[in-house]
Amino acid sequence: MDKILIVDDENDIVENLVDYLQAKGFATVTARNGEEALRLTKQEFPDLILMDITMPIMDGIETTRLIRSCPESAEVPILLLTALNGSEKKVNALAVGANDYITKPFHEPELLARVQAFLRTKTLHDKLKASYKKLEEMEKIKDFLIQSIIHDLRNPLTTFHGSVQLLIENLNDPSHPYSQDEVRRLLSKAAVSAQEEMRLIQNILDVHKLEDNRLELNRSKVDFNALIESCASAFETQSQAKRVSLRKELNPNLPDLALDEELMQRVIKNLIGNALKFTPEGGSMTVRSNIFDQELSCEVADSGAGIPEKDLDKIFEKFFQSGDQTSKRRGYGLGLTFCQLAVQAHGGKIWAENIQGTGAKLKFTLPIQ
Ligand SMILES: Nc1ncnc2c1ncn2[C@@H]1O[C@H](COP(=O)(O)OP(=O)(O)OP(=O)(O)O)[C@@H](O)[C@H]1O
Ligand SMILES: [Mg+2]
Repeated sequence: MDKILIVDDENDIVENLVDYLQAKGFATVTARNGEEALRLTKQEFPDLILMDITMPIMDGIETTRLIRSCPESAEVPILLLTALNGSEKKVNALAVGANDYITKPFHEPELLARVQAFLRTKTLHDKLKASYKKLEEMEKIKDFLIQSIIHDLRNPLTTFHGSVQLLIENLNDPSHPYSQDEVRRLLSKAAVSAQEEMRLIQNILDVHKLEDNRLELNRSKVDFNALIESCASAFETQSQAKRVSLRKELNPNLPDLALDEELMQRVIKNLIGNALKFTPEGGSMTVRSNIFDQELSCEVADSGAGIPEKDLDKIFEKFFQSGDQTSKRRGYGLGLTFCQLAVQAHGGKIWAENIQGTGAKLKFTLPIQ
């Protein structure tokens, strides 16, 4: 309900205006002079001020000037009421920042029409101001993200380059050839980094396309368990290096589904990648597939710290990363955004749960057509 501050030293006028405006659905606050109006403006934050020009203690023009000079009330619409015919005060009223004036005695419906028009403008103005503020904030976030994205893209590339460089230098120095195991270790380190780099880039590109509905699903018959197996095997080296076990509990009776295999594979890989990233050394991960009530379900559970309850829904938001990870950010907070968009594009749902005392579980379901 819009609140109107009515300021006049004549009781009759104030009372009439209060009755009339309250009957029209407005809340009202009243003051008898400029000083009181100034105080109430700061306390009550009216949406509009209707004020007489000629008043004792402080007149409407001086009051308007002071209201305008205060940042919190600089934008509130002010309509001044004047019995004067002389145009000098009216000009002054507008000069100090009043939006308009109404000559007394006034015709109530006309006053109402003006009040409504200025309130509409104020609402639009407030909305515009809020959008502008949001835009400014988004611009700041965008700048920060561009910086961190560039920074994050450098990490896997540095590892990749370092590993390959070592191999080349070693090839050029035949006196100390690397053993096969050493070569394998460096090559797989390079491969894992290149894979991480591709995942980050692909997530950025696909989130953008999926949000714009520009990514067409390329469906084909998919053996879902085989897909899980192949995704899991891509993490073998990394999980062994971290001594994290990866169990699979797959229901052998899943029907073949028409899915975009490439996208689904990346959903599962993002989930396993997260589970591995957020599980400490020596922990465990389990991937499950099942079928229930015309839906296929897939879940990735881990023995990490879990997700704060307040963030269970937020983790799917673009760029969201739970906790204070600014100092050791890894990734963009885009993995789950991509997963959600890709699962939804298949008509499915994805959500996160905490397993009491043992970690997080990311689960999605897909309809069986
Ligand atoms: N298994 C998990 N255990 C605990 N927290 C998780 C888990 N999976 C996701 N999260 C939380 O959700 C956030 C968002 O995950 P998401 O995959 O979208 O981003 P990311 O892994 O931080 O970065 P990116 O995937 O872009 O490299 C993570 O930063 C983390 O805080
Ligand atoms: Mg991730």
